[in-house]
Amino acid sequence: MTHELPALTYDFAALEPHISAEIMRLHHDKHHATYVDNLNKALGKYPELQNKSAEDLVRDLKSVPEDIRTAVRNNGGGHVNHTMFWQIMGPSKGGNPTGDIAAAIQKTFGGFEDFKKLFNDGGTKQFGSGWVWLVGGAGGKLEVVSTPNQDNPLTNNQMPIIGNDVWEHAYYLQYQNRRPEYLQAWWNVVNWEEVNKRFAAASGDGK
Ligand SMILES: [Fe+2]
Repeated sequence: MTHELPALTYDFAALEPHISAEIMRLHHDKHHATYVDNLNKALGKYPELQNKSAEDLVRDLKSVPEDIRTAVRNNGGGHVNHTMFWQIMGPSKGGNPTGDIAAAIQKTFGGFEDFKKLFNDGGTKQFGSGWVWLVGGAGGKLEVVSTPNQDNPLTNNQMPIIGNDVWEHAYYLQYQNRRPEYLQAWWNVVNWEEVNKRFAAASGDGK
């Protein structure tokens, strides 16, 4: 299987004013595309790995041959992370959480505002490049974690439900060094329907 860059289902400008069209174009067409290309290059001499999904590769990194493990970790992770990222955003989204995830956030964190604060703090404090996540762990327990570079929680047996990209390429052209401002604005584009699908999958009920 050759991994492919998924098309965006909305226009580059659709997330404005929160994320500029210029950022979206570069982020999708250049950054994500490069992760996909480099993942395919890394897998070139291992045909037996070419039928595995990027998620499976990242979930079971230790079974990837050592000479390409770092490349798969970085580029497979980059592919999985960004594929999710485009899906959990959308135009005319944002607002308060809906559905089962709203109740789970209320129960675990005491409310959406408290959850956002924890999540945004995690993103702000991630030193250098990385991601901040809401993950489902064992027994469906929700937790906010952050990871460096393109590491994905799947490698740690955690299911990523929400993830925000805090690499400078995600915000610098619009927010410069004001990462906390980007993190705050990002909630205006979150697609809660899609987040609920991921939460259902993480909870194992297949809804
Ligand atoms: Fe990114």
